Formats: sequence, C-alpha cells, structure tokens
Amino acid sequence: MAKKLTARAGANIALVKYWGKRDAALNLPAAGSLSITLSGLETVTTIERAPGLQVDEFRLDGTPQDAAPVGRILDLIGSQDRVRCRIDSRNNFPTGAGLASSASGYAALVVVADALFERGLERRELSQIARRGSGSAARSLYGGFCRLHAGRSDQGEDCYAEGLYDPDHWPLEVVVAITDRGPKAVSSRDGMNRTMRTSPYYPAWVETVDADLAEAEAAVARRDFDMLAEVAESSALKMHASALAARPGLLYWNPATVACIQAVGRLRGQGTGVFFTMDAGPQVKAVCLPGHAEKVAAHLAEVPGVSRVIRTGLGPAAGLL
Ligand code: PMV
Repeated sequence: MAKKLTARAGANIALVKYWGKRDAALNLPAAGSLSITLSGLETVTTIERAPGLQVDEFRLDGTPQDAAPVGRILDLIGSQDRVRCRIDSRNNFPTGAGLASSASGYAALVVVADALFERGLERRELSQIARRGSGSAARSLYGGFCRLHAGRSDQGEDCYAEGLYDPDHWPLEVVVAITDRGPKAVSSRDGMNRTMRTSPYYPAWVETVDADLAEAEAAVARRDFDMLAEVAESSALKMHASALAARPGLLYWNPATVACIQAVGRLRGQGTGVFFTMDAGPQVKAVCLPGHAEKVAAHLAEVPGVSRVIRTGLGPAAGLL
C-alpha cells in the first residue's frame, strides 16, 4: 500500500459553456458542455497518508487552505473513516483568475486519491466525483476533446464526462491573454447561482445549449474550424449575456478583454484561424488552428492591458506521475 502518490491534470476550456445547475447539492449541471483539455496549464497534486493527524491538511501552492472541501472528495473515494491525509497541490498558472484551476485541481485529486485508496474506479465514476468539487473538473479527467453529459436523473448517475477525441485528432493550439492578475470578483459558483435566480435570459440560455453541443460536436468530428468558431464564440457571448442580465449584473470583462475580442475578430477577418472564448474572469482564450498560434500570440501581446500571453496546446488525460 503506497504511503504517498502524485498525479497531474491539465486545465480545460469549455467551447460550449456550463453555466447553471439543476441540483446545487450534487453539483449537477443544467446542461451539458464541451471542452478541450490543455497541456501547458496543469495542477500536480501529492497525497500522503498521515495517520498522526486529527484533520486533513491541504496546501495550495505552498499556502495552507481550508481542507474541508478537498476532504469531502476524499471521503467519497476512500470512506468517512479513512486515514487523514496531507494534500499538496501546485498550479503552474495563476489560481482563481478565470483559468479554471479548480478543474485541474479536482481532477488530479480524484486520480491520486483513487490510487492511494486502491479503489480502481472507472474514469466515468471519477468524473462524477470530480464534478462534486467543481462542475468543470469532470472534463479534465480526459485529454483532447471532452463532453460532459448533463443527464436527467435526480442522483446524477447519467451525468458524467466522456472523452471524444485525443489531441492528435485535431491538435488545436491555445493562446491565453492575461488581462488581470488578481482573483476574480465573483466566483463561477456564485455567478451562475445569481444568473439562475435573477437573469431573465437564463431560461433562453439553457434552452439553446443542446443545439450548440450538437453543432460543436459535429464541427470537431469534421475538423470544421469556421463552424466551431461560430458556435464557440456564440456560446461564450450567450453565457456572458445571461450573466450581464442578472441582478446585480455580472461583468467579468475589462477594457483589455474587449480589445482582445476585437483583435481576434480582425485576425480572423484577415484569414488567421482563431476564435475567442472567456470564462468567469477577464482573460481571453484564443483557440487557434495548428500553425496559427505564433501570430495570434504576437498580436495579443501588443494589446494594451495584456500583461502576458501563455501559449499551449491540447493535453492528455489526468494521470498518475
Ligand atoms: O466548474 P466551475 O464551477 O468553476 O464552473 C465553470 C464555469 C465556466 O468556466 C465559466 C464555464 C465552463 O464550462 O468551464
């Protein structure tokens, strides 16, 4: 029985967004989503059995944190009376700035906990447990292109992530433009709850997701970049429109976010294979056709207010190190 194990998982970016839950306690999404898993932005998590401890200890990037949320996930994989653990998690990218560190974090956690507690759970089950930590985390269990099925059942047995294609199916590249280094103003959890409760556009948002998913999945299957660009940009803008219409309204963007969106539009107009997407934060993720990322990164780095650009590609499934 291992005393200490380590796993890694890549962040993921939704091309058809998840925004809203059908069950808050189980963290069941109101609609499905489709994402790409990244290679360069990752979480590495080590868990060590610590029988001497009364409570779990959790450090994120070296800083002690409340271990309760992480402990609840360990309870679901081990058991309530499992051994207490020391959990050390490190991101190689800024935490809490709209770069989905919770996704790679919970995905790495469930993989390493499954191995440490010798459960041998199926990926599908691990995706369901990761989802309890953060909805988008279910998708980081898989590499390349991934779909999260919303399901209908009350307990969520039919809500799980499914790997669609490995990265070599279509090795898209991603440029992340960092427009703000601070933590986000309103977490995605609070933002989507407020949108659900108060936005008149929320029902319309949920109603359109299935059609977007079908279109995006077909675009990925055919490697049709223009088709994927159109549906992904629409999904991102619709998600933000539903949030803007909440009370009080949620505006996650800053002037540099808008400038990046416009720069991406200009580049595509000139024939560069690129489209934008944004999550619950001000960073812009530019998804590029293979071979186009260098030009896109050079352009976005020049946009006023962009402090840094990160270039990455599609990455593998979460796994043990
Ligand atoms: O997984 P959460 O609860 O952080 O929600 C993620 C929500 C978005 O990032 C905005 C969209 C998505 O599908 O990843």
